[in-house]
Amino acid sequence: MTKEERSKLAGTPPAWMYEFDLGDGIVTPLLTEELREIHRTRERMIVPVIEDFWPNGLEGQKCLDVACNEGYFSFFLYQRGATVKGIDAREFNINRAKAVQRVYGYDSSRLTFSTQDFFFNQDPTNHYDLTLFLGLLYHLENPMGAIRILYRLTKRLCVVETQLTRQQEPIYSGWGETSKTLELPASMGLYEETDMDENNLAAHKSLSFIPNAVAVKKMLSSVGFSKVWQITPSPDSNQQYVNNDRGIFLALK
Ligand SMILES: C[S@@+](CC[C@H](N)C(=O)[O-])C[C@H]1O[C@@H](n2cnc3c(N)ncnc32)[C@H](O)[C@@H]1O
Repeated sequence: MTKEERSKLAGTPPAWMYEFDLGDGIVTPLLTEELREIHRTRERMIVPVIEDFWPNGLEGQKCLDVACNEGYFSFFLYQRGATVKGIDAREFNINRAKAVQRVYGYDSSRLTFSTQDFFFNQDPTNHYDLTLFLGLLYHLENPMGAIRILYRLTKRLCVVETQLTRQQEPIYSGWGETSKTLELPASMGLYEETDMDENNLAAHKSLSFIPNAVAVKKMLSSVGFSKVWQITPSPDSNQQYVNNDRGIFLALK
């Protein structure tokens, strides 16, 4: 791609979710400055896990990056040797991911991007050694359905990153009889996203369920993941992670 084409790619609005260095001093502008810190925190939390599970790198491993947006984490897995598929519901995001792939010259036999709503994924059972499910759970009107698909596709490890509600206390609900009350530690907040048309980071359908941390663990274990745990952020992580407004969870098949 010529310098002019790269300049045009970086400079055409809207601003980007990730900062990509396209060479010759051309860098994609970030939507918000906080995103830089968020991505850094996520990398610092996720990289050691991947290195623990795959100490010799990801060569020969198949990975799926669900809701890959502009492909940052797909590139990250590719650079570590994996064969990667990145999918996103928005063609605009996938076109950007493909354009950055062209700039970097990354091998299309090992890195593919496609526009796809995750709910229509037809990949075979246990197809991916590693699945990334970052920044999507809280944008879905059927989060449990998505987790079931994720479980089906994952062969070994799944990484889920999500926004969390601040609900720490159980929610109480009546249940069938006047005198009966359920105490429910796992809960979700219902949010109607109104910016879907202009925000390339948003939900695809308008209603979203935001889980609390207990709910994420409950959903992952109830579909069959044998071990589920939340990674503790270091104190110098982005405040959203420190405050448990966002969390990263690991689920082992
Ligand atoms: C907050 S961004 C997260 C991007 C990236 N995974 C990350 O965490 O850095 C949410 C992404 O989910 C995509 N998305 C929303 N609903 C989707 C669906 N049903 N299937 C696939 N992608 C979806 C959006 O287009 C957007 O790129």
